[in-house]
Amino acid sequence: MKVGVLASGSGTNLQALLDAAAGGRLGPARLAAVGVNVPGCGALARAQAAGVPTFVVNHRDFPSREQFDVALLAALRAHGCELIVLAGFMRILTPLFLDAFAERVINIHPSLLPAFPGVDAQGQAFRAGVKVAGCTVHFVEAGVDSGPIIAQVAVPVLDDDDASALRARILAEEHKILPAVVRAMAEGRVHADGCHVHIRPTPP
Ligand code: GRF
Repeated sequence: MKVGVLASGSGTNLQALLDAAAGGRLGPARLAAVGVNVPGCGALARAQAAGVPTFVVNHRDFPSREQFDVALLAALRAHGCELIVLAGFMRILTPLFLDAFAERVINIHPSLLPAFPGVDAQGQAFRAGVKVAGCTVHFVEAGVDSGPIIAQVAVPVLDDDDASALRARILAEEHKILPAVVRAMAEGRVHADGCHVHIRPTPP
């Protein structure tokens, strides 16, 4: 399965995918392309260093979200992408994009959704004083950080944490859960029944 990754930032989740691919831990998933909307972002450099094809589609070059999405779709299709992974991609995709890849767009979010959608989810969780935080991989629907939940990992919030310690603990789990879900998707082990999504275990 050809995977297209979209990113906007430092790209540590992308790096986890690149490392998993290099280590043979992505099953039949192949990283076919990495697209970014922020020229010069860390994710772009990481993909280039790994020799994965890249493209830049800068949202500032487009007058509307739909026109931006059309350009993204064209680039992803040109690389034959079948599954789209949002790994720190800081743009909201329109139905035009999501309909083109129905149930084929997944996102990683650093909270236990539906709690704390949107930006700075870890800071939101810390300020709310929750005792358990975590991360979520979910199918993307129109809306911010909404859609059927595929997998979640919880981490404790410790008494001497600050927001940055919590962020790091969550990120370490993001780096495990995202490659695991991509592999499961590529192996056809992810089944959605409305908002209930099940992952079958790897056969022995
Ligand atoms: C991650 O926390 C991810 O969950 C969120 O954006 C951040 C991206 O970090 N959607 P990185 O660019 O993968 O380091």
